[in-house]
Amino acid sequence: MSKAPAPVRDVGSTAVAEYLLGSSSAERERLLAQCELLRPASAALLDTIPLPPDADVLDLGCGPLGILDLLSERVGPTGSVTGLDTDRRMIGWARESVTELALGNVEVRQEALPPATAAEARYDLAHCRLLLINTPLPRRILDSMAAAVRPGGWVAVQEFDWATWQCDPPHPAWSRLKDLLAGVFGGDVHIGARLPGLLCEAGLTDIQVTAHAYYWQPGDRYQTLLLSFAHLFRDRLLRHTALTSEELDSLTSTLHDHLGRPHTTVRESLLVQARARKP
Ligand SMILES: C[S@@+](CC[C@H](N)C(=O)[O-])C[C@H]1O[C@@H](n2cnc3c(N)ncnc32)[C@H](O)[C@@H]1O
Repeated sequence: MSKAPAPVRDVGSTAVAEYLLGSSSAERERLLAQCELLRPASAALLDTIPLPPDADVLDLGCGPLGILDLLSERVGPTGSVTGLDTDRRMIGWARESVTELALGNVEVRQEALPPATAAEARYDLAHCRLLLINTPLPRRILDSMAAAVRPGGWVAVQEFDWATWQCDPPHPAWSRLKDLLAGVFGGDVHIGARLPGLLCEAGLTDIQVTAHAYYWQPGDRYQTLLLSFAHLFRDRLLRHTALTSEELDSLTSTLHDHLGRPHTTVRESLLVQARARKP
């Protein structure tokens, strides 16, 4: 029987949750590669958001880069971009990116957004990408983002929904591992599907949603992302599910062989993008 923790929900804790995937150099490298992958979709999302010439914008949970570079370009020299992240190493890497890319209008700080009740409504746009899926507090974070935006400003969110994450041909090892990982991941792996409702609950209007799908083949780095997560969450899988370490090894080795076959394709999680306006 599964001993996995209950799926994500908003709880009363005021503590800032630890980033579930850690802040190793490997995670930095993975996130920077993901920035490249998601760049066209993120740019398309920003195309749908009209900003004033001197816009003040926020990338919350920016990680080592997030969309700071895209925002910097959008707001130009008269605008300003703030990147916030609660992880010290991530902010150090974000600072390196800002310097390397000479983003003169970007400032990054190791901070969480203040709670909605203490917010100053100053931003023209508050954005986050792949933050809510990694947190047990998605509603609270969206509320604080909505509160940090001035009336008439925008909130934009990009999150994955694991629903579409499948391999073809299907394989029972994939389904088993994915189900077990979803239970121990810590955030809601279907948060992407909930974005329109969550934005509405945060009091926002003019909600517009779109989605992007990606496909992988053997040799693509994301072909084996599920196996990377199994490695990263090995301790949790062994602690919170009925899997023995031998069973986990056998599952990952079977899946590794299947994903490496020439005709196995992986359809990625759906990247859901939603943006909404503060009345
Ligand atoms: C998956 S990473 C995404 C990074 C970046 N947005 C991107 O798309 O590449 C999530 C980031 O959110 C940060 N984070 C987690 N909880 C946070 C919070 N409450 N406030 C600010 N940052 C947070 C983590 O430290 C991590 O750097």
